[in-house]
Amino acid sequence: MARSRFDSASPEETRAIGKRIARLLREGSVVALRGGLGAGKTCLTKGIAEALGVAEEITSPTYTIVSEYQGTLPFYHIDAYRLRGDDDFSALGGDEILYGNGVSVIEWSEKLPQSLPDHAIIVEIAITGGETRRITVRERP
Ligand SMILES: Nc1ncnc2c1ncn2[C@@H]1O[C@H](COP(=O)(O)OP(=O)(O)OP(=O)(O)O)[C@@H](O)[C@H]1O
Ligand SMILES: [Mg+2]
Repeated sequence: MARSRFDSASPEETRAIGKRIARLLREGSVVALRGGLGAGKTCLTKGIAEALGVAEEITSPTYTIVSEYQGTLPFYHIDAYRLRGDDDFSALGGDEILYGNGVSVIEWSEKLPQSLPDHAIIVEIAITGGETRRITVRERP
């Protein structure tokens, strides 16, 4: 299991770390984000999406679970916050998305332990201060 760690001191740095993480991604990749409210999951997702050629700015509408964008590959931004769990996600067709040929980034992925493919890259964002974050990336070799 390869692991890397980044320290961020601003939203801009978190977004730039998202761009670096994007280099690990290809067709079918899944990024499982962990970290509480306001950790910076959406901020990091914006950087990933930008690096993957999504021209639109990613947003986080309150009641939207899955937002699809077009980049060099289909790009899915999933927010599991309002889901009860894996069954809810499956009922929405979530498995087809994660096992399809796009790239998926999941906020609140802790809620979907059964749905995550084995090849999911786990990114944990810990709040270490007002504007500081520690970002840990774990990928299977
Ligand atoms: N180093 C940092 N990296 C990312 N965000 C930061 C940082 N420092 C401060 N912030 C602030 O923290 C907030 C992060 O918001 P963001 O929407 O990305 O979090 P989130 O993890 O997606 O939250 P939610 O669980 O509500 O979806 C923003 O207001 C941002 O300005
Ligand atoms: Mg968010």
